Amino acid sequence: MKIVGKSVPHESARGHVTGEALYTDDLLLRFPGALHAWPVVAPHAHALVRALDPSAALSEPGVVTILTGDDVPGEGDTGANRHDEPLFPAEVTYHSQPVAWVLGETLDAAQRGARRVSVEYEPLAAILTIDDAILAGSFHSPPLRMARGDVSVIESSQLSFEGELRIGGQEHFYLETQCAIAWLDESGGIAAHSSTQHPAETQEVIARVLGIPRNRVTVECLRMGGAFGGKEVQANPWAAIAALGASKTGRPVRVRLTRALDFALTGKRHPFQVRYAAGFTRDGQLEGVRIALYSDGGWSLDLSEPVLSRAMFHCDNAYLLPAAELTGLICRTHKTSQTAFRGFGGPQGMLAIEEILDQAARRLGLRPELVRERNFYREGDTTHYGQPVKDAGRIETIWRRLMESSRFAGRRNEVDEWNTRHPHLKRGLAITPVKFGISFTAAFFNQGAALVLIYRDGSVQVNHGGTEMGQGLHTKIRQIAAESLGLDPESVRVMSTRTDKIPNTSATAASAGTDLNGAAVADACSTLRSRLTDVAASLFGCDSAAVRFSEGLVFREGEAERAISFAKVCNTAYLQRVPLFAQGYYRTPGIQYNPQTGRGTPFHYFAYGAAVSEVEVDGFTGDYRLLRTDILEDVGDSVSPMVDRGQIEGGFIQGVGWLTLEELIWDAQGRLATAGASTYKLPSWTEVPDTFEVDFMPRAAEAGTIYGSKAVGEPPLMLAISVREAIRDAISAFGTGGPVELESPATPERVFFAVQRARAERELQINTAEADETVAGLLKEAQPR
Ligand code: MTE
Ligand code: HPA
Ligand code: MOS
Repeated sequence: MKIVGKSVPHESARGHVTGEALYTDDLLLRFPGALHAWPVVAPHAHALVRALDPSAALSEPGVVTILTGDDVPGEGDTGANRHDEPLFPAEVTYHSQPVAWVLGETLDAAQRGARRVSVEYEPLAAILTIDDAILAGSFHSPPLRMARGDVSVIESSQLSFEGELRIGGQEHFYLETQCAIAWLDESGGIAAHSSTQHPAETQEVIARVLGIPRNRVTVECLRMGGAFGGKEVQANPWAAIAALGASKTGRPVRVRLTRALDFALTGKRHPFQVRYAAGFTRDGQLEGVRIALYSDGGWSLDLSEPVLSRAMFHCDNAYLLPAAELTGLICRTHKTSQTAFRGFGGPQGMLAIEEILDQAARRLGLRPELVRERNFYREGDTTHYGQPVKDAGRIETIWRRLMESSRFAGRRNEVDEWNTRHPHLKRGLAITPVKFGISFTAAFFNQGAALVLIYRDGSVQVNHGGTEMGQGLHTKIRQIAAESLGLDPESVRVMSTRTDKIPNTSATAASAGTDLNGAAVADACSTLRSRLTDVAASLFGCDSAAVRFSEGLVFREGEAERAISFAKVCNTAYLQRVPLFAQGYYRTPGIQYNPQTGRGTPFHYFAYGAAVSEVEVDGFTGDYRLLRTDILEDVGDSVSPMVDRGQIEGGFIQGVGWLTLEELIWDAQGRLATAGASTYKLPSWTEVPDTFEVDFMPRAAEAGTIYGSKAVGEPPLMLAISVREAIRDAISAFGTGGPVELESPATPERVFFAVQRARAERELQINTAEADETVAGLLKEAQPR
């Protein structure tokens, strides 16, 4: 019986629903006497800190101490790449930035203390929008560029047009907010529990701030209650504060952001502004594009560079760009530092090309799906950065299959017919593809490691470098280890992620968790299995090649009835002094990219998929309903189909939220006005399509990946573009079928005004037609008889 490929529940499913699964803050109970930390936050988006007086706060009952820059023994900076994130800033660079932290016996005491720290600020002018940043020349880095071919073709194309698209950001809204607990360990080192996607980097930042070597710091992550990229680097400052507090006071310190603080202090998906020019032939063949991407990076660099380059890598989505000139700039604004978020810039880049294709189609009077299809990559094509598009044919295969299974053509006619009968409600239908590059674009991150321990009773502990955030990585790892060792999954325990088990790990990100760590675990297991095979062969007196492992039993091929237990083989191995633990390692082969030339093969492979969505838009309110979505996703040979299905459904709905509901609004002072669930609209059951069909591409085994599987964590998010395009299709039906301007997110308000514009265009056309008729009539009458 195969274990890999079987639908099994998430290993913590029971714990998730019963509340038994422990998260970082649940561990607080184990640290009696822990101090609570609360920040002193600046009431300005940009200001100098002139003076800070903690004396009143220190007299507040229950306040233990205050952390300021003076307490930092090492470097007071938590910036992950560039060291540009002072922990105790002399210059405030975003609204509500912490300038000091109060430690109290209780949270209440810390909060009271924080209110009584008196800080003198000198407010400065703040840059709060991409437009202002462009005007002021406020950028984090020099422009990134990618180019191929001669884009001057745009000007001579049969259809040539320019446009602009504004794309909103997105709050991660992980259910578990940022959290860390740190304490002094038994030998004077620092230990921390942290809700982090990147324990090794959290360890590095703690060591940096405390000025101690990394071997004195241990970071552990049990699991996260969601992360979505928001804990790739942004878990670090809170862990650093907890560690600094523990080191100063000798007591455990807990930092947990409330939802309001988490909204105010942590970075989000990057808002983008896109300016483009495109040239097409009359029949919708793309000839060239010029795209300028401006991302809103916020106050510090964070991951904005790789996010922007991933956006530029995905300005093609599934389409061949024969000539392309892409530039990217990261705006430096006085806002939260925007960071990784599921898709990591890919969604914004893909939205740009989907916008361009839809604009072209409606200008040419062609069906958008036809224009999309005409521009697909074909076998043998390369991307604009020079990577061959392996399995490009899958794009069209998926497209055709999905068109058929969703009955696209028939429904297209039904929708058109339905629309003629409904003046105030219109339906829209759209199909969009996804091609998403898998691998960290910085090649060195693409490594995974494992340490697998087998005990004499045959039970197994698996340690690996990845973190669990709900995505089911540990479930897949367990299946992989069980399969490789011929055990039931119940015999395999996946341990929490710890820096003292696996060093120098990469973040669990880029959807590569299973690809990297799963392969490393399989490597360790194969070492162990071959050692155990030799032991068993000697027990059976047979050749190693004849030894079989299955379901906790070991036997000589053809003699299953004389099987012995895996445990017995393990104990025998121990007695024969054969080591029962092994490391495993994996590095992704064949990837490289040169940012100077904009050329290379940054991705190990591409994940493909497509979605068809149908919506109904109410012309009176701009409100819409998602009637039906059909998805076909290429996950290779799925390691864990139920987990993958969850990722596809969840990713898609999260994308629907980003593109249609979730809107971040900063006020004129640079304060986030939408800083809670009451003002920031998240998708919920209402947004789940009435009919939701999710399917995997069959017989899709990928060569050179763990058990032929493909990454699934991020790619499905971008399937939600089909919903945006379906909404646009419906809006267009209120008008003349011509182009529709639609900023993102397509909130009911924006849809309402877009419907108004579409209707106005129709009126204009009708009036013009009437006028033409009248003029024609008059002219006829005026003819001499
Ligand atoms: N799924 C859940 N439930 N929670 C999460 O936080 N993060 C997403 C995705 N799916 C996330 C999730 C992101 S941003 C990434 S990169 C991948 O999971 C990371 O995990 P993987 O590499 O194991 O797929
Ligand atoms: N994807 C996700 N996270 C990352 C990447 C990437 O390409 N690079 C660095 N962190
Ligand atoms: Mo995911 S944005 O790569 O953490």
